[in-house]
Amino acid sequence: MTQRSDVNQLGGRSIGRVVYDSESIRLRVRQIADEITEAYPADDDLLVLGFLKGSFLFMADLVREIRRPLQIDFLIASSYADSTESSGEVRLLYDPPAELTGRTVLIVEDIIDSGLTLERLVPRLEARGPKRVDVCTLLHKRLAGRGVEARWVGFDAPNDFLVGYGLDYAEDFRHLPYIASL
Ligand code: IMP
Ligand code: MG
Repeated sequence: MTQRSDVNQLGGRSIGRVVYDSESIRLRVRQIADEITEAYPADDDLLVLGFLKGSFLFMADLVREIRRPLQIDFLIASSYADSTESSGEVRLLYDPPAELTGRTVLIVEDIIDSGLTLERLVPRLEARGPKRVDVCTLLHKRLAGRGVEARWVGFDAPNDFLVGYGLDYAEDFRHLPYIASL
């Protein structure tokens, strides 16, 4: 794959093996979107809330395959600085101004690792009176088994640090159309 050699030295780190290629991602995203389309009653007021920045490509691909009315907003949370380890601190840098009362909120996340980010943030959203809050994550490392259950999981990820398709290492590699290990 020629484009790999163009980017594999960014951030002082090298890309390892491709874990999910773009075709596998595309097929799985379509399956999940079909399930989401079927999952909610037609009169549910669906708000899809993407966690930036990591979910931006997944979110864009997912919502284009969901065949029902919905609205979109984003959350910006930061728990990792320029690190591959969780610091335990979760900061909310952008909080959606959207009214949540009575609405069905679907959080779209790139990856669940320790589960800490969602464990901290979901209760804050639930406190705003939504009908329900569901989580859709592209990847799940299933390590800690803590807190919040994801209703939709794209892939059970290996316990490697992954980059691409929105996932970064120190802000590099987000644009790759596939997911690779570092
Ligand atoms: P958690 O709070 O430990 O579940 O971590 C969630 C966040 O950490 C994700 O939204 C990512 O931004 C980041 N993260 C966790 N694992 C990885 C990884 O393997 N690659 C890139 N980012 C990751
Ligand atoms: Mg990140």
